[in-house]
Amino acid sequence: MRAHEAGALHGNDAAPTWLPYPADVNALIDGLWSRTTMRGADGALEVGGVSVHRIVKEVGTAVLVVDEADFRARASRFRDAFAAAFAPYRGAHVFYAGKAFLCTEVARWVEQEGLGLDVCTGGELAVALRAGFPAQRIALHGNNKSDVEIRRALEAGVARLVVDSLEEIERVSEIAEQLGAVAPVMLRVTTGVEAHTHEFIATAHEDQKFGISLTAGDALEAVRRVLERPATLRLEGLHSHIGSQIFDVGGFEIAARRVLRLVAEVREHLGHTIDSLDLGGGFGVMYNTQHTPAAPEVLADGIAEIVAKECRELGLEVPQVAFEPGRAIAGPSTQTLYTVGTIKDVHLGGPHHRVYVSVDGGMSDNVRTALYDADYSVLLAGRVSEAEPTVVRVVGKHCESGDIVVKDEYLPADLRRGDLISVPVTGAYCYSLSSNYNHVPRPAVVSVRDGEIRQLLRRETEDDLLALDAG
Ligand SMILES: Cc1ncc(COP(=O)(O)O)c(C=O)c1O
Repeated sequence: MRAHEAGALHGNDAAPTWLPYPADVNALIDGLWSRTTMRGADGALEVGGVSVHRIVKEVGTAVLVVDEADFRARASRFRDAFAAAFAPYRGAHVFYAGKAFLCTEVARWVEQEGLGLDVCTGGELAVALRAGFPAQRIALHGNNKSDVEIRRALEAGVARLVVDSLEEIERVSEIAEQLGAVAPVMLRVTTGVEAHTHEFIATAHEDQKFGISLTAGDALEAVRRVLERPATLRLEGLHSHIGSQIFDVGGFEIAARRVLRLVAEVREHLGHTIDSLDLGGGFGVMYNTQHTPAAPEVLADGIAEIVAKECRELGLEVPQVAFEPGRAIAGPSTQTLYTVGTIKDVHLGGPHHRVYVSVDGGMSDNVRTALYDADYSVLLAGRVSEAEPTVVRVVGKHCESGDIVVKDEYLPADLRRGDLISVPVTGAYCYSLSSNYNHVPRPAVVSVRDGEIRQLLRRETEDDLLALDAG
């Protein structure tokens, strides 16, 4: 990389104020990397006992590398933390939210770790069933389920269909009748709480597409309609999901209070006891040094305390509860390896400049930066360097100036074409949101464990892309 004529790039003004100047640009920042990631004797990163050079030799770049031990450990930790926190009451179940990342092998890990699986389309359900995931541990979500999806879920015997509208109640009931089945339904209610990181807002009614409104009285009506159809519908409980990348339990307090008030109203007006609640997912992860996620045990204990307190005040028994973490299990288990291509030092006027590092992927394998303004980190992965740290922007190869993978991070100033770099915490909502924009084939996904590499999803080829082209 060319040093800028304005002098040393040390702490150059391209760095945002939150980004710390690294004491050691080769060091793995604590909390950002999966549990088995380390530097090997040659300085290259190793994950699951496998050098990144070996991974790249086998499957090339861009590649998402899932640390299997890390994924499993996070899954079982959430399972245990919530089970322990709710053990004094009626227990808790954890469903992994497959929308974060799903393939058949990952579904098997989730199954083996004893979690349930939350799917939200027929496609996700198909992956789960192909993996042999037990249907009685699957929940089907979706604000616009097709009749085919509902029928398939009922035929498979899923644990619960999370009904998202008044209209859907009728359709599920009709399909259950055709099948001679009783559909287990949960009702997703809109609590008016929207949580992001440390902030949450609670509004009178929520202007969004999910769920059945609590404030308009629709939720009570929905419960009534389900209870009216005992031949085709069985009410499993209530569901609420308040947001994503949440770091503390404040948002859950208001949501739980509002949902439990509905439980009390149902008891009072309909004489029915709802004994199961699903409080959704949304637990946050560390994408960079600004983020401070709470441990699963802290979240579980905090939410258990909130639910127990609200129940005491309303004179209710604490229901059985469920949670649906996706990002917090899948996200930190995975990193994406890219090969560095073109490096450009762009003059911005006066002494200002920005170093653009292009990689062989981009918004097609990680759209979160463009879509959510996410801030990722990045590390030189194939070697260590003694060079001065300099702030760079990692960009993809797409025809879009918003095609940014990492907005700002320090990398060594001797970064060059052909270097391997790695972006951590890409396990959630990266591959699952991937696209073929510009006809760029999707990357490979591998898992690593105890020195072994396993291909989870092979790299797409141009033939895959052309396979859909009827011309
Ligand atoms: C209903 C529901 N449950 C669970 C999740 C998982 O959220 P996260 O991956 O942030 O834990 C989502 C995410 O959108 C969701 O909509």
